[in-house]
Amino acid sequence: KKGGYPHFMLKEIHEQPDSLRNTILPRIQNKLPDFTADNIPDSLFDGITRIVITACGTAMHAGLIGRAMLEKLLRLPVTVEVASEFRYQDPIIDKNTLVITISQSGETADTLAALKLSRERGASTLSIVNVKGSSIARESDYVLYTHAGPEIAVASTKAYTAQLACLYLLAFRFGFATGKLEKEVCMDEMQQLLSIIPAVEETLAQDKVIEEISKQLTEKEDLFFIGRGLDYALSCEGSIKLKEISYIHSEAYAAGELKHGTLSLVTEGVPVVALATQQKVYSKMISNIREVKARNAFVILITIDGQEAEPSIYDYHISLPEIKDDYAPFLAAVVLQLLAYYTSLHRGLNVDQPRNLAKSVTVE
Ligand code: F6R
Repeated sequence: KKGGYPHFMLKEIHEQPDSLRNTILPRIQNKLPDFTADNIPDSLFDGITRIVITACGTAMHAGLIGRAMLEKLLRLPVTVEVASEFRYQDPIIDKNTLVITISQSGETADTLAALKLSRERGASTLSIVNVKGSSIARESDYVLYTHAGPEIAVASTKAYTAQLACLYLLAFRFGFATGKLEKEVCMDEMQQLLSIIPAVEETLAQDKVIEEISKQLTEKEDLFFIGRGLDYALSCEGSIKLKEISYIHSEAYAAGELKHGTLSLVTEGVPVVALATQQKVYSKMISNIREVKARNAFVILITIDGQEAEPSIYDYHISLPEIKDDYAPFLAAVVLQLLAYYTSLHRGLNVDQPRNLAKSVTVE
């Protein structure tokens, strides 16, 4: 059942080129994104003035990346809400709000409750779900399925990248349908989305390098993930993944925010996973890395091929295939998943079934 892999998690990490292919390819028609087969009409955005994304855990982290893409291409305000908070906040939503819920299992109690509340208040609802016919899928006006296949390991991996792909497809289709994205630009974005598949394959080929680096983390008890923009959203995901299966405490921090308090925790040998995949904030990010290196932090730097980084600011460097800023999260996610996986493995833990956690959280 594990297809020759020692754990489901490793199998599922390596399945990502396939799960991305299965999620993206059926939604392409004449080089444009197309949801005809999903029964999602172009009129979905008629009258919509804002979008609320609500989900839990890793699915919520996918929403953080989705927000950036949707805002950029649709020019509509998007907020991302933790479902367990949103449902008790008396949220301001109405018929002009599109509520997007994201869930692998489709059964997460808080996400389902947030969805029901949104419907009661008249919002349009669309869910991005992996499990066919699940409660969240049934309760939503529209469903965009991630065709990631069954995800068995408690730590979510391939579902997350498939959720990202769905959010990007939504941003492209509705950017195009609402006239905000020109046809050629939309086609070009689709082309770039497709190009992540071989790039994810290339990233997976660094498996052994990441395994080696993870050996440096096995004895640690605290670490930081830092980044800016999409890399900050990814830091949140890297941090939950590591905590969940390696039981090492970590924190995700917006790199520019460190000096407002948390830098006092960065001392000699404290590992800092520094994500610097975003060209537009690259020099700012490098300054932040210099700040932690000046405190003798142990820096694992993640950049895109072609970006210069002076060796004095890092201890280990992982370089990803060249790709535009918006598409880097797919590659960086793979690195963070492998880092968490191998750290857990080297600590001798139960990778697929970490303590205290369940795959599907059907209680609030
Ligand atoms: C982390 C993880 C959880 C889930 C969360 C939501 O690796 O798997 O954070 O993402 O419990 O679950 P779903 O997506 O099933 O609603």
